[in-house]
Amino acid sequence: MTKPNLLSGMQPSAGSLHLGNYLGALVNWAKMQDDYNAFYCIVDLHAITVPQDPNELRENTRRTAAQYLAAGIDSEKAALFVQSHVPAHAQLAWVLNCITGMGEAGRMTQFKDKTQKGGSDSASVGLFTYPILQAADILLYQPKVVPVGEDQRQHLELTRDLATRFNSRFGQTFVIPEAVILKETAKIYDLQAPESKMSKSAADPKGLVNIMDEPSAVVKKIKSAVTDTDGVIRFDRENKPGISNLLGIHSAISGESIASLEARFEGAGYGALKGEVADVVVGAIEPIRDRAIELLSDRTELDRLLAAGAARANEVAEKTLADVYDKVGFIKPI
Ligand code: TRP
Repeated sequence: MTKPNLLSGMQPSAGSLHLGNYLGALVNWAKMQDDYNAFYCIVDLHAITVPQDPNELRENTRRTAAQYLAAGIDSEKAALFVQSHVPAHAQLAWVLNCITGMGEAGRMTQFKDKTQKGGSDSASVGLFTYPILQAADILLYQPKVVPVGEDQRQHLELTRDLATRFNSRFGQTFVIPEAVILKETAKIYDLQAPESKMSKSAADPKGLVNIMDEPSAVVKKIKSAVTDTDGVIRFDRENKPGISNLLGIHSAISGESIASLEARFEGAGYGALKGEVADVVVGAIEPIRDRAIELLSDRTELDRLLAAGAARANEVAEKTLADVYDKVGFIKPI
C-alpha cells in the first residue's frame, strides 16, 4: 500500500529553532515521516513577506534545514526542500489568488494582527496574500494531512475552501486536506515571562532556549528562569507559571509525568529542579546542535540533500500544476 501524502512548512526566519519549535513541531514531524509520504518545505517565499537581509535569509535557510535533519528528519524518508526551488508554488499561488475574494483574504486574523502591530503602510501585498501562497504549498502535494499549530487553523480552512471552490468550478483537481492540529501538551512558555508562549520574538533573549545555543548558555538561562517565592514545587499554571513551565519542559522531554516529578521534588528547592531541568534539556538538544553544526560544515553536501528533496517535490508539484493550468484553460507550450 502506498502511504498517504503529508505536507508541512516552516519559516526560515531565525538562526535557531527554539525549544517550543522542537517539542511542538519537529518531534511530531519526525514521527510522522514513517507513516506518511512526507513533504517538508522551508518557506523562503513566505519569509520575504516581511523585510529580510539577503545574506541572513540564505544563512537561516541552511541553518533551518540542518536543524531539521539533525533532529531526525530523514532525507531518505521525507522530502525536505526549499520552497523557491519548486517554481510551482508561486505559479499555483497566482491561480489561487484569482479565485480568492478580497474580503475572504481580508478576514485572515494573522494578517490583521500583524498589520495592527506594524501599521498598514508597513505591510506588503505579499503579506496580504501569504495564506494563499500557503494554500498553494499544500494543494500541490495532494496531501491527506497537514500537521500545524493551532495558530494555522484558519489558513487551513481557507486552503480547504479554495480547493473545494476550484474543484467545483473546474472539475476534480485537489484532494481536500485535513489539518492535524499538533496537541498542546508540550506547550512551552518563555522562561522570563512564563505567561507567554516561548517565541522567537521574546522581549528578553534569556527567556528563549535555542537549539543552537551553547550548552553552558542553556544551563544559565534555565537557572535564571523566573519562579515565585512560596518555595513549593507544584504544578499550578495560574499561580505558579514559572515552576509549572519548568515541570512541563521536564515532562515533555523526559516523559516522566508531572505527578511523579511533584512527588520526587517534594520538599526540594527550586535550585534542584532547575538543575535537573537543565540536564534534561541539554541532554536532548546538545546532540542535535552538534549534528547541525556538522551538517553546516559541509555546505555542498547540505545543498545536495536539499536539491534531492526539491527533485522529489518538483515531480509531484509539476503534475498538479500542469493539471491546474490545463483546467483553467491555458494552452500547453509545444
Ligand atoms: N504559515 C506557516 C507558519 O507560520 C508556515 C507555512 C507555510 C506552512 N506554508 C505552509 C505550514 C504549508 C503548513 C503548510 O507556521
